[in-house]
Parts: sequence; structure tokens; C-alpha cells
Amino acid sequence: MTDKLIIFDTTLRDGEQSPGASMTKDEKLRIARQLERLKVDVIEAGFAASSNGDFECVQAIAAAIKDSTVCSLSRANDRDIARAAEALKPAARGRIHTFIATSPLHMEKKLRMTPEEVLEQSKLAVRFARNQIDDVEFSAEDGYRSEMDFLCRVIEAVIKEGATTVNIPDTVGYAIPELYGDFIRTLRERVPNSDKAIWSVHCHNDLGMAVANSLAGVKIGGARQIECTINGLGERAGNCSLEEVVMAVKTRRDYFGLDVDIDASHIVAASRMVSQTTGFVVQPNKAVVGANAFAHASGIHQDGVLKARDTYEIMRAEDVGWSANKIVLGKLSGRNAFKQRLQELGVMLESEGEIMAAFAKFKDLADRKSEIFDEDILALVSDESVTA
Ligand code: KIV
Ligand code: ZN
Repeated sequence: MTDKLIIFDTTLRDGEQSPGASMTKDEKLRIARQLERLKVDVIEAGFAASSNGDFECVQAIAAAIKDSTVCSLSRANDRDIARAAEALKPAARGRIHTFIATSPLHMEKKLRMTPEEVLEQSKLAVRFARNQIDDVEFSAEDGYRSEMDFLCRVIEAVIKEGATTVNIPDTVGYAIPELYGDFIRTLRERVPNSDKAIWSVHCHNDLGMAVANSLAGVKIGGARQIECTINGLGERAGNCSLEEVVMAVKTRRDYFGLDVDIDASHIVAASRMVSQTTGFVVQPNKAVVGANAFAHASGIHQDGVLKARDTYEIMRAEDVGWSANKIVLGKLSGRNAFKQRLQELGVMLESEGEIMAAFAKFKDLADRKSEIFDEDILALVSDESVTA
């Protein structure tokens, strides 16, 4: 088993399935280039058979991207797969990602197919895809709600047909971390020749556990590919968020023991680009990319961080692309943070007494105003100070 974790980004496919998040070809190209800069291993560029527009997007991204594998989704039928193969022709490295649902509910109510028919169609799809391209991923849609015995048969069969990656989605975000991890582990133990394919996890966030479930799929289950999106964009409550899962694996390398190739310094730019393109605002307290992710407002925390950043920071803001961490001045701030901001603003007060007087004025103002800006401080001290 390799100790590299493959990062498969599906912002441009599953992310775009989020209502209101559809993107133009130029927007998708711009995001694909940013994903390449991030060193994402696989970029799922779209679903070529879904429309002529999406076909053109996949084709344009396949032509433009050189360092990441470019992937197109396709249902498990020859027409979709042929369309995906056609769109991927210009790719330096292309992948066809074919899927079919395997849960009793989806097979019976949605596909109106018997399990035997689904098994047969899975085999035919992977066989056909392997005739077009070497890199073929098979997904068992609603895999987590599928019956274990049947899913083992399907995965065994598609590996035999040459699937190079097998993905077990938690399509509806129903999983619990330990249970999902055990589910993946049991599958890997029971499927013959399971080590002939890379195992992948794809988790939705309906119960807010997409990141935790994906990490459990890796740690407990032994999966070596995570499917995720920038800002966790995706259907309903979204997908596993790339920035969170990547920084968890990097920050807790002591626990996961895995390498990711992602250049995290491009994460904040990627987050902003996706947010501005789709109009989906990033919540301020979102891990890693939220405006407050590296901001300190309380006096005790500010004092700690000014003395040693790791007192209250487990990652460096700069490592994910922020210019710096942020000391937010407000009513909870202490004297040290205030003094530090005066210095940064080039304000020199003559004595400790003047500093204390300015600090008292600052506290009065902070009781009336939730955040104090640099302009407020400059106004407060304008009578007494000399500015450098
Ligand atoms: O959530 C899901 O099951 C999917 C598959 C198409 C991979 O997005
Ligand atoms: Zn999905």
C-alpha cells in the first residue's frame, strides 16, 4: 500500500451540481488552472455526455491542463463513455469515471433494474471504458447504502475488467466516521485482488461529516484517494471540503502518516476564486479559508499569539495563502495587542502614561463599536502622537 494520498477534485463536476453554481467554459478553465497550480492529482472537469457545453468544457480543460489528470464523469453506458473518451482526447493524462447505483433503493426505484442487470452493466461499462483509455474509475453510486455481499461482487467484477480506481460514495451523506471506515475496510478485505485498484472515498455533507467520514475511510478503511471540492461546494449540503481534508492530513501527519502533493499556499486563492465565480459566500468561521480562521479577538489569545503563535494556531495562515494572521482589535483586546498595533501603524507615544491613556480611550470606543479599524486608532491618538 502506498503512503501517498491522491486528491481528486470535483469542484467542476459535483461542485457545479450545486443549485445556482453553474459556470461558463472560461470560468471553469480559470478554476482548472488554479487546481493545477494547487497540484491536485485529478481534476474532474465535468460530465461530457450531459450537454454540448459540458463536452466543450471537458475538452478545453483536457487541452489546457498538463500536470493533473483530467477526468470526465459518464454513466455506465457506451454512449456516455464514448463521449467522455472523445472529450478527453487532447489530455496528457485522461481518466474516464463511470458510475452506476448499487443500493437496493436506487436499483429498484430509480434504475428499475435487477441487481444482476446492474452487475452486468458495470462489467460492460468498465470493459468498454478500458478499451478507450488506461485510467478508469468505477463508482458504485449510493455505495454506502448498498448490501455488502452484492457490492463485493460488483467491485470484484469491475476490478477484473480493469478498473484502476474503485470509489465507494456516501452519496446522501448518511455515514458515520467509524462505520464508514469499517465499511471500506471490510470491502477491501473481502474483495479478491482488492490491491489491484486504488480505493477511493466520496462523501457528501448532509450531516456535516463529509470530511470526518473521508478521513475515516482513509485511516480505518485504507482508501488512498479522497474526492473533494473547494469550499465543500456540491449538491445539497455539499461535498468533502478540499482545504479541510488536505490541511488535516498535512497538520496531523503524525496520525495519518500520508503525503499529499498539494501546494497549500494556493488554497486561499482557490477558495476566493470559486466563491467569486459561483457567488457562494464563504462563512467567516469556515476552517482554513474563512475570514476568521486565523483571527484572534480576545485579549488572552492575542497576548498568547503575540508571544508565540502556536499557543493558539495549529497551522500558519501564510502556509495556506493568507498574508498573515489577524489580530482583531475590539472590546476584548488587551494592552499588548493595542501596543503592537500602534507600532505597526508607526505611532510613537512618548510615555507609558500616554499609552495607557490612549488604551483607555480605545476601550471606551470598543464598548460602542464591535471592531476597531486602524483609522479609528489613528484618530484616537492623533492629538498625542508623533507618527513615524
Ligand atoms: O455522490 C455520488 O455518488 C457521485 C457519483 C457520481 C460519484 O457524485
Ligand atoms: Zn457526489
